[in-house]
Amino acid sequence: MLIRSPKSWEISASTVTPEALYHARPRREFLRTLGVGLAGAALARPGALFGATAGFPSKENPLYPAAKLKPTAEEYVTVYNNFYEFGTGKDEPKVNANKGWKTDPWTIELAGLVNQPAKFDVNDLVKKIGGLEERIYRFRCVEAWSMVIPWDGFPLAKLVALADPKPEAKYLKLTSFNDPKSAIGQRQGNLEYPYVEGLRLDEATHELAFMATGLFGKPLPNQNGAPIRLVTPWKYGFKNIKSVVKIEFTATQPKNTWQAMAANEYGFYANVNPKVDHPRWSQASEQIIGGGFFASRQATLMFNGYEKEVASLYKGLDLAKNF
Ligand code: MTE
Repeated sequence: MLIRSPKSWEISASTVTPEALYHARPRREFLRTLGVGLAGAALARPGALFGATAGFPSKENPLYPAAKLKPTAEEYVTVYNNFYEFGTGKDEPKVNANKGWKTDPWTIELAGLVNQPAKFDVNDLVKKIGGLEERIYRFRCVEAWSMVIPWDGFPLAKLVALADPKPEAKYLKLTSFNDPKSAIGQRQGNLEYPYVEGLRLDEATHELAFMATGLFGKPLPNQNGAPIRLVTPWKYGFKNIKSVVKIEFTATQPKNTWQAMAANEYGFYANVNPKVDHPRWSQASEQIIGGGFFASRQATLMFNGYEKEVASLYKGLDLAKNF
């Protein structure tokens, strides 16, 4: 995915497991990562500083249980991250997003072609929506690695219903925060900011589209996109925009950040598709993060295993052109 910095999104570097990554690094850096990991565990994510705490404990949604998909270990999910606002290296967001960046309180705005424009504090929003549920979803990054993540959150459709879109509204444009003082990547300009993503309205109201405020039954850590992020499990990870401040309803298709950076490599849809390769690497299989040395790769599934649920959204669409 890498555009300007030659360090991170190249497939050769990004498909190694975290263990391999750590051992390939200079010892000093490895120890630094480990030290931060231990400090993070000791803090146990204090809700007063990070993320939105309302709605916990969430209720398991029996349609998406752990019995079907075994979650990746938490220490991988919260250490191996892509969050360019806090650096392009996988282990940088955990360090840089926890140096005083405040994610509580946090306001999210509903705007554009809606009958009910509004601004909500995220905790108030969770209460208004009626609490949180847990769903365990596959997560597949465009860089050809994958995890299984237990999210806490609510269906995006509930937020869309609150906004009450006008008939002209056909798309959602989601915008992430912009705070160069707190975000080193924004100061460095490693991408165009703020990070933007988009969905068709019918994708956004699909039952699988989810707004997460937690992981593993606890508020989202900053590095995972606190306090509220999108989760669309049938799409590549970059669609899953973190730390959302605004959802605007539009008549025309918004351009997402990666599409703006390299339209020949990243499209609007970003549906997981093992038959359509990235121009620089194959999408036929994926590295399982935390899978260990012997269970490290698996075949990638169409729509990341959610074909039965979402294929009808794309009937008649040429998926090789609309990638
Ligand atoms: N959202 C913002 N605001 N900035 C980012 O750099 N990276 C995306 C996505 N959302 C990104 C973002 C990419 S490329 C991926 S793979 C996922 O977040 C990673 O989510 P995770 O770190 O929780 O696994």
